[in-house]
Amino acid sequence: MSQPGFDELLEDLRAKLVLPADKPEENHENTLRALWLTAAGEKVSAVASMASVLPALDDDQRERLTGLLAKRVQGKPLAHLTERANFMGFEFVVGPAALIPRQETELLGTTALRLLDATSHGGAALCLDVGTGCGNLAIALALKCPSARLWASDISEAAIDLARQNVRRYDLQDKLPLLVGDLFAPLAGREGGGFDLIVCNPPYISPQRVPQMGPEIADHEPTAAFDGGFGGMAVLRRLVTEAPQHLAPGGWLAFEVGVGQGELVIKQLQAGSTYREVIGICDTDGIVRVVTAKI
Ligand SMILES: C[S@@+](CC[C@H](N)C(=O)[O-])C[C@H]1O[C@@H](n2cnc3c(N)ncnc32)[C@H](O)[C@@H]1O
Repeated sequence: MSQPGFDELLEDLRAKLVLPADKPEENHENTLRALWLTAAGEKVSAVASMASVLPALDDDQRERLTGLLAKRVQGKPLAHLTERANFMGFEFVVGPAALIPRQETELLGTTALRLLDATSHGGAALCLDVGTGCGNLAIALALKCPSARLWASDISEAAIDLARQNVRRYDLQDKLPLLVGDLFAPLAGREGGGFDLIVCNPPYISPQRVPQMGPEIADHEPTAAFDGGFGGMAVLRRLVTEAPQHLAPGGWLAFEVGVGQGELVIKQLQAGSTYREVIGICDTDGIVRVVTAKI
């Protein structure tokens, strides 16, 4: 019996797979392409799959593809099947130990690049990525702004192990120190000046809402990547309170916020005397998703 071709598999996938709303870059075609390439031994994200030519599959690879498609339809995230996600144009090794990078966080990435440019004054800006996960944001900034000096930290040792793989993948092991610990605790005893920029995509979902995010997220990605404590804002509050001690004079804090949190956070920062130039940056739907503030 002849094997189903790409078009037949695509039609079947369209009938069976509901696409994840939190990963708008994934569609049925690039999902099938990414799994096809993965089955053939080339691990790629959905985004990167569009640039590769699909090879013919032998029987073993064909069987592997059938298994991968079944797992995807059952709700295993595509990125966990391919072990790859694309962020700001770069491929990252991903897995259950850390958040799968989301396209929405690229707004924080482009904002950070702009701030790095503004703070460098022709020299090397020093930047810390708190809660780095698999290292996607810090690494993308290091690659796009080679003059900057990046540091990254996370409370999860397993996430930092993944970040270490990505740091090696981009040959940044001598340039991007990775630290493990709670927010700024790993910096205790660090010599040298403050950071020109601190970036963070903190967990900002309330604990009650984490299990309601849907099984594809809640059953596969680490709770620590989402659970922001009381009202979803406890980690965020600590971030804005503790960051100034680690910022250089005139340094910037830039962080992602959840839908509906931006206005409140901006008001609170504007009401205090620590930060000035508190600015909300909107996504394409006009929703504040990034806040920047200068000390
Ligand atoms: C939303 S994920 C962000 C991952 C990655 N930076 C990104 O934007 O794709 C939040 C990250 O913060 C880490 N985290 C949570 N609480 C933390 C804390 N108190 N101190 C440091 N990192 C924390 C989690 O382990 C997780 O990797």
